[in-house]
Formats: sequence, C-alpha cells, structure tokens
Amino acid sequence: MTHAQRPLSARPTEALSGTALVPGDKSMSHRSLMLGLLAAGETRVTGLLEGADVLATAAACRQLGAGIERGPDGAWTVWGRGLGGLAEPADVLDMGNSGTAARLLLGILAGHPLFAVLTGDASLRRRPMGRVTEPLGQMGAHFATREGGRLPLAVTGARRALPLAYRLPVASAQVKSAILLAGLMAPGTTTVIEPAPTRDHSERMLRYLGATVVSEDRADGRHVMLTGEPELTARPFRVTADPSSAAFPAVAALLLPGSRVVLPGVGMNPLRRGLYDTLVEMGARIAFTNPREEGGEPVADLVVEGGPLRGVTVPAERAPSMIDEYPILAVAAAFAEGRTAMHGLAELRVKESDRLAAVARGLAACGVDFEEGPDSLIVHGSGGRRLRGTHNAAVETAMDHRIAMAFLVLGLASERGVTVDDTGFIDTSFPGFTALMQGLGALLEPA
Ligand code: S3P
Repeated sequence: MTHAQRPLSARPTEALSGTALVPGDKSMSHRSLMLGLLAAGETRVTGLLEGADVLATAAACRQLGAGIERGPDGAWTVWGRGLGGLAEPADVLDMGNSGTAARLLLGILAGHPLFAVLTGDASLRRRPMGRVTEPLGQMGAHFATREGGRLPLAVTGARRALPLAYRLPVASAQVKSAILLAGLMAPGTTTVIEPAPTRDHSERMLRYLGATVVSEDRADGRHVMLTGEPELTARPFRVTADPSSAAFPAVAALLLPGSRVVLPGVGMNPLRRGLYDTLVEMGARIAFTNPREEGGEPVADLVVEGGPLRGVTVPAERAPSMIDEYPILAVAAAFAEGRTAMHGLAELRVKESDRLAAVARGLAACGVDFEEGPDSLIVHGSGGRRLRGTHNAAVETAMDHRIAMAFLVLGLASERGVTVDDTGFIDTSFPGFTALMQGLGALLEPA
C-alpha cells in the first residue's frame, strides 16, 4: 500500500492558552472492543479513541463475529460473541500500525480453535511477535511466522487451552495481556510474573466484567493470577482521556512561557503517570486538580503553565510507567537547565520505530546536544533558550506518530521552526492533534 507523505511545520509560537479535550486512551479503547467481543451481549463504550489503531481492532473484532457500530451520540456499541463463540475470520486480519492490537488479539485467537492470518503495515511487520507466540504456543496454539517471528503470521488456536505460569522476559503489558486473554479460555489459574509492574488496564477491565484477577507483589516480581473460564458479563466502558496523548499539549505549554492550558479528565493510573512525576521533579508547573475516579481509573484535570525546567535522572525502574513518553520527555529535556539522563530504554528500539534512534536523529536535526547509548539517552538542555530547529530539512518520523508529535512540539519552542516529513501516522493515536494544538494557539501549518 502506498502512502502519500503529509509534511507539517511548527512555527515559533509565543504562548498557548485554553482548554483542550484530549481523545480517549488507546490502551483502554483496544481493550473495550476486545472485551466487548468476548462478553456475550451488548457493550456500550463512551469516549472511545477513534484513531486508526483502534479502528483496526474494531475491524478485526467484526471479522471475528462481533457487531460494532458508532451511534449518532459518538458512543460505540459492541454486540459480543461470548468466550469461545468467535467466528473464524474469512480473510486476513490487518492490524495496521498497532502492536497492541496485534499482540492482544493473538492472545484471544490462541485460546479459540480457529485459523487466522495477521498482518500489518511496514512498521508493524518489523516488530517482534515471538514475545507473544512463545508463551501462547506453550498454552497450545500453533503459529507459522516469518523469519524472526514477524508478521504476517498464521495462528491456529488451541482446541483446549492450557493454563500457564510465565515469567515475562521484558516488562510488557502487551505480552501480559495476551497471556491473560488466552488464559480466559484455559481451565485453572494462569499466572504472569512481571519483572516490573506494567499498565494494568486489562486486569482492571477483566475484574469489572466479573473475572477473578489477583495481583500480588512478591520478592521476584508482581504475580498476576487469572482464574480461567469466567462468566464475562457485558457492562458499559467509559474510556478516559489518554495521558500519553495529553503529554504533547502539556509539554508544549511547559516550554512556552506565559502559557496556561487545561486538559480535563486525563487518566492518572499510577502505572501510566511516570512522565508527569518526572516533569514535576523537573520543576514543571502542573496542577492535578479535581482528582476523581472515572471508568474504574483515577483521572484529574491538568492545569499546565509555562516555566523553567531543570535536568533530572530518570531511573530505569520508571520506564514501564512512561514507556511511550520518552520522545516528548527528550524534547522537554532539550529545554531544561542542565543534563537529563534516561535509563532502561532498550524497549524503545522495538516500538513503532526504533524510537531511540528516531529521537536521536530528530534531536540532531534540531541542534540539540545529546548522547545516545544502547539503552540510554542523555540530553544537555538549553536552559530555556529557544533551540535552532530544522532548516531546509525535515525530521524523519519513521512511521511513528509519537516522533512526529514530539518534534512538532519542539518546533513551537524553536527559533526557526521544525518540519516533520510525515504527520499521517498521528491519526493512529491522536486524530485531531493538529486542530487541537492550533486551537490552543500553536502555529502549525502545511510545509
Ligand atoms: C500498551 C503497552 C505498551 C505501550 C503501547 C500500549 C498496551 O507496549 O508501548 O503503546 O496497551 O498494553 P509494551 O507492552 O510492548 O511495552
């Protein structure tokens, strides 16, 4: 499939102001649709992210037999098939750019005795799937994959799935979730042991539908134990605003003195808020107002004001709670006073792009002083001075939405502006990003 590139320029901008509603959480949106498929009956989803990644999940769930429709009020309804009731897909399932969609769906397929073929775009076809096919194979599914366990792959799910106790070699909520979703079809207890806790949306949402999922912190890590073959009762999901998307307008406001931006209802799950904790350590003026619970998740209205930041060391242990936020943290660090060191970044190399390399290329193109290690990044900040930006060149987005958004934010705080070569992928996670930022006063224009 060819894809026409959509370049965009961020021009130097004075200050941002206003209130912006960030779209729904990507992780919760994928899970709402997939759990809606697995629960018999009707699931109503409000606040669903209508980005390309989630629409790929919706299409795949339809191919597996779910009815899925968007109502005139913007709420979505899923008519589920119930555990064990999936239809065999008549065609290849195309998961687009989304690792979450591909890996979680493989968990569901592994527990159902069906044949399915999965593929994705050029970025997803480069990403490792062995991390899920290996444990799911132990549960009884069969896979035929391209070299290196990559997509396209074919799966034949287990006729009778086996429960598994599995220690994750890397901290990954996607792998944990895939195993738990397969475990729904297995008798007895399926246990995932995490080296470090990762986002727990799957556990929260499964419990909400009536499954028994127990998490215990032990000396060797967090044990997440699911009791198989539950009755899943369809119940409505309310998706909160995505903290990973809110990070872009939030950091833009921090970097532009005089800014004041309000971001209502942003998810503040403790396993997702590592960036915000880091920014506060850096001296950021962020107020977490009106804290409350929505859709089974803690949320707050963020009030962000521009002001100086200072460099910090971000420990490796924090990486799982901010794994998607390093590109925008690197941009914030580029304007801080002193040095910001980020450790434990190996997983960034297998995201939508090799994100560490893509961040490094972008920082170099914009005149930032940094050191890239195999799993670390050290950024020497400008102390609040505007950075050069790109000049007659563009930041390469490498099919990665977060690289595009992070460097557009840098451009707003630069002297000459920044052009990114392709903003098409922003729609995977943050449809309406450009309009939302323009509404706050950001100067974004076609290059
Ligand atoms: C996600 C988990 C993370 C994250 C991704 C969404 C999820 O991936 O990067 O954007 O919804 O479970 P890993 O689990 O592979 O780290």
